Amino acid sequence: MSVLSGKKILLGITAGIAAYKTASLVRLFIKLGADVKVVMTPASKDFITPLTLSTLSKNPVHSTFFDVEDENEIWNSHVDIGLWADYFLIAPATANTMSKMANGTCDNLLLATYLSAKCPIYFAPAMDLDMYIHPSTKESLDKLQDFGNIIIPATSGELASGLVGEGRMAEPEDILSFIENDILSKLPLRGKKVLITAGPTYEAIDPVRFIGNHSSGKMGFAIAKEAANLGAEVILITGPTHQQINHSFVNRIDVISADQMYTEVHNYFNDVDIAISAAAVADYKPKNVANQKIKKKDSSLTIELAPTKDILASLGAIKKHQFLVGFALETNNEIENAKSKIKRKNLDAIVLNSLQDKGAGFAANTNKITIIDKNLNEKPFELKSKTAVAKDIINEIVNSIR
Ligand code: CTP
Repeated sequence: MSVLSGKKILLGITAGIAAYKTASLVRLFIKLGADVKVVMTPASKDFITPLTLSTLSKNPVHSTFFDVEDENEIWNSHVDIGLWADYFLIAPATANTMSKMANGTCDNLLLATYLSAKCPIYFAPAMDLDMYIHPSTKESLDKLQDFGNIIIPATSGELASGLVGEGRMAEPEDILSFIENDILSKLPLRGKKVLITAGPTYEAIDPVRFIGNHSSGKMGFAIAKEAANLGAEVILITGPTHQQINHSFVNRIDVISADQMYTEVHNYFNDVDIAISAAAVADYKPKNVANQKIKKKDSSLTIELAPTKDILASLGAIKKHQFLVGFALETNNEIENAKSKIKRKNLDAIVLNSLQDKGAGFAANTNKITIIDKNLNEKPFELKSKTAVAKDIINEIVNSIR
């Protein structure tokens, strides 16, 4: 999955011949699952039509503050368009538009949108070779980068004038890769390995029966997705669950029992930077597993249970550089119990859910947590969706390891 999937991309088009390539750009963004809107300078419409771009982007294309042909004359708010975008790409960026951007000129919708946009802004210059090396162009390029905009450098090759040299707009595929790589390199968990356990474990009684629990795996999966979205390489070790995850940064390993989870977790732990134990691991397993299905009898049946290995505690006992996070699901003396688990299992932080809070716990789509750090500072959070809770948890970890 691309980092651009689900993102809102604003494409600004200015009047250069490379504007004809923006049709491909829009298609490539859409293919990656991005939502695309286009703003154009009036002059760029000589190079590519708004109809082509609105058809491809499935969104209206604007080039003026008012749609003059629209009798209702709807105001195209540059502020709204700018705030809508997660990323703003200006391609092609002509010498004229770059000069105006560098000097705060604001005489069209695209420039007004540029001035009010708060998101990261990329620009892909395109012009003839002598224009590209002209000192005034260089000055604009330097200024724009000093302002925090990101240049996607022009390449060398045959130019529309017939001359050969630097000034060609980067190819659409290369523009996309550039933006993806740039976003990835700035993600806070880029280069980090994160181990996450999720779901319940099933402890076999006989070949058809088991002892399990109601854990849905939702919380652990949401954490895995969030960590991956922030650039981490995630190893997700999960017990039986219906949850799905489709992210190229997530390596999912399915297990059934606590013993299998223990083995897989220890296969990976040495190599990771962060481990988060969100699984509801069974505390007990049948002492003996029957080889054949246990037959019904009239008398009562007693199954002797033996404790499982505490996976989290075993990690706390061997951890070196790893940041180790546990979960505590409590019904009474919540804070006190969670704090004692931090000490007992040698954790860096614990995420406490109280079953006394409405909307917290296994099956719900929401959760209410308190994060306690190893210095026993408590940070309570509101009731939120599990996706939002996952963001809070990962955010706290990112801030702690910085
Ligand atoms: N955990 C684990 N292995 C186990 C049991 C629990 O890794 N065999 C982890 C869970 O993933 C969770 C944390 O330990 O992160 C807390 O689990 P919990 O069952 O609440 O704690 P216990 O130590 O079992 O204590 P108690 O049952 O008294 O609450």
